[in-house]
Amino acid sequence: MSDEKRYPVPESFRQRALMDKALYQEWYRASIEDPDTFWAARAQEFLHWSKPWDKVRDGDFAQGTAAWFVGGELNASYNCIDRHLPERADQTAIIWEGDEPDDSRHITYAELHEQVSKLANVLKQRGVKKGDRVCIYMPMIPEAAYAMLACARIGAAHSVVFGGFSPEALKDRILNAEASAVITADEGVRGGRNVPLKTNADKALAGCDSVHTCVVVRRTGADVAWDDKRDLWYHEAVATASADCPPEPMGAEDPLFILYTSGSTGKPKGVLHTTGGYLLSTALTHKYVFDYQDGDIFWCTADVGWVTGHSYIVYGPLANGATTLMFEGVPTYPDASRFWNVVDKHKVNIFYTAPTAIRALMGLGDEAVTKTDRSSLRLLGTVGEPINPEAWEWYHRVVGDSRCPIVDTWWQTETGSILIAPIPGATETKPGSATLPLFGVQLGLLDPNDKELDGAAAGNLIIKSSWPSQIRGVYGDHARMLETYFATPKGVYFTGDGARRDEDGYYWITGRVDDVLNISGHRMGTAEIESALVLHEAVAEAAVVGYPHDIKGQGVYAYVDLMAGFEPSDALAAELRDFVGKEIGAIAKPDMIQFTPALPKTRSGKIMRRILRKIACNELDNLGDTSTLADPSVVEQLIEERLNR
Ligand code: WT7
Repeated sequence: MSDEKRYPVPESFRQRALMDKALYQEWYRASIEDPDTFWAARAQEFLHWSKPWDKVRDGDFAQGTAAWFVGGELNASYNCIDRHLPERADQTAIIWEGDEPDDSRHITYAELHEQVSKLANVLKQRGVKKGDRVCIYMPMIPEAAYAMLACARIGAAHSVVFGGFSPEALKDRILNAEASAVITADEGVRGGRNVPLKTNADKALAGCDSVHTCVVVRRTGADVAWDDKRDLWYHEAVATASADCPPEPMGAEDPLFILYTSGSTGKPKGVLHTTGGYLLSTALTHKYVFDYQDGDIFWCTADVGWVTGHSYIVYGPLANGATTLMFEGVPTYPDASRFWNVVDKHKVNIFYTAPTAIRALMGLGDEAVTKTDRSSLRLLGTVGEPINPEAWEWYHRVVGDSRCPIVDTWWQTETGSILIAPIPGATETKPGSATLPLFGVQLGLLDPNDKELDGAAAGNLIIKSSWPSQIRGVYGDHARMLETYFATPKGVYFTGDGARRDEDGYYWITGRVDDVLNISGHRMGTAEIESALVLHEAVAEAAVVGYPHDIKGQGVYAYVDLMAGFEPSDALAAELRDFVGKEIGAIAKPDMIQFTPALPKTRSGKIMRRILRKIACNELDNLGDTSTLADPSVVEQLIEERLNR
């Protein structure tokens, strides 16, 4: 498309940027032609190794096995804290901005070191050791970062579970990882409301025998139930703990964390990341994609419960000795200017958020933005879902005063770090395109027969060779990893996304090609929501699909077939929404519920989701082949009764 808008790198930005176009191209070429040399140099530059590696890369990509910096040893907590102390002890590591605008704190690298070491010793005293798993179920408070780094310090893998998930969802994750300890808070606070985290954790833990320890941060002072044998207050435990905790030397391929994410089938998978490659890729991309320079204030608005928070609130920035801002609240509390007031208050230079937040704020008018200063901002970023050009333009013009480049960053929980994005001093941007692959990333597009496409084309996005922060496994289930990501076709990593490549080689992500929804930038499997719905006594069968939603990107559309004796009603629909919220979490609640006497099935009994998707998306004149339907009248009825939206 030749009429698409282009935004060249602003001259003022280019002049002080870390990397220009020539350097990006040189590095990219080097990273593809001689990966071992390229990555060895980067690993030396970015990380401290207590033992050098024997081999840069190993493993068989086609078998889903990858190993980086084999034989090398390092500790992520040491790399994110200790080694910065000679120069940065008094520099702010974390700026914490609370839910209420008058509540904030600065935590220096020296304080971070003390807090993390003490908590690490508390965990050790309770018998948590290298190789164990610790579940972190926390609000967005500094202790969440301390907890992650304390685990890393003693070599326990953390599994952070988003604080918005239900007790059921938490229990599933604790059980799957066989965690021995949980770190939580009495309550979380978001948008003026309290979230009963400890009560949720108690419910989850009732079914988890592996957990012997639950450390509880006092955030609100709410009354909570207590199990003297299992529970301990964070503040009491660290008060008597030593601040001396030598970091455990970890193999480059030792697990750093597990993070559960939704797939197209079954329960969420525990994506496993290891230490060396993950830390290198997050540090490298944090520096170059965000043009992070000493003294910059970096703010990623994600929650640490998602991979974005892991990589760009905690590990990437802290590995680079950066100042990272952590925000407890929401964009619209106390009002729609909150983000920009926080930017002004802390003089944020680099701001990274999700398209869904941009669209929501865009809908609330320009004034909430324009009445703030924002002159500290130099660069804006987005992540999590495709950004529509209209939202991109608004972000650029109104939030960035037409001054700040935008980096649209494509990646996944499985990729660990950003793989497609502009380098802001190097890459001309086009609204809606994540632009070009980063170092070492070899992309491809496949047609429906798995044949690779050349030049400008659209197809299924694949990755053709390993990168350092590649997923290392699905916790406890290598077979599932192979079958999900490396089976069709053989030899490449299947992203699950569709994409278009234009004549400049730019990538435009079009969205998932599988049964995974992207709701406000959060991944949710349709199968998970269906499983939750059918647990309700009124539901005989359910089918869930996505449909376009102005703010969330995608909304959840559920077709529900009721048990005999139950009648459709608004009250029942509301009850089912709440039920799903309780089973999984608020993000999974269906936006639309259509009751139907039957679901469209093939003669062999398979639900025809393609048709359900079309009906939900209101593409009624284009249902495609319906000749295999067992009973075509079901579809007619569905269309007739389709919700009036
Ligand atoms: C899926 C991964 C990685 C951080 C947050 C989400 C979608 C992610 C973009 C983007 C278009 C994007 C993809 C991907 N996605 N970034 N810049 N443009 N789509 O992580 O929960 O693992 O979800 O998010 O569909 O597969 P996740």
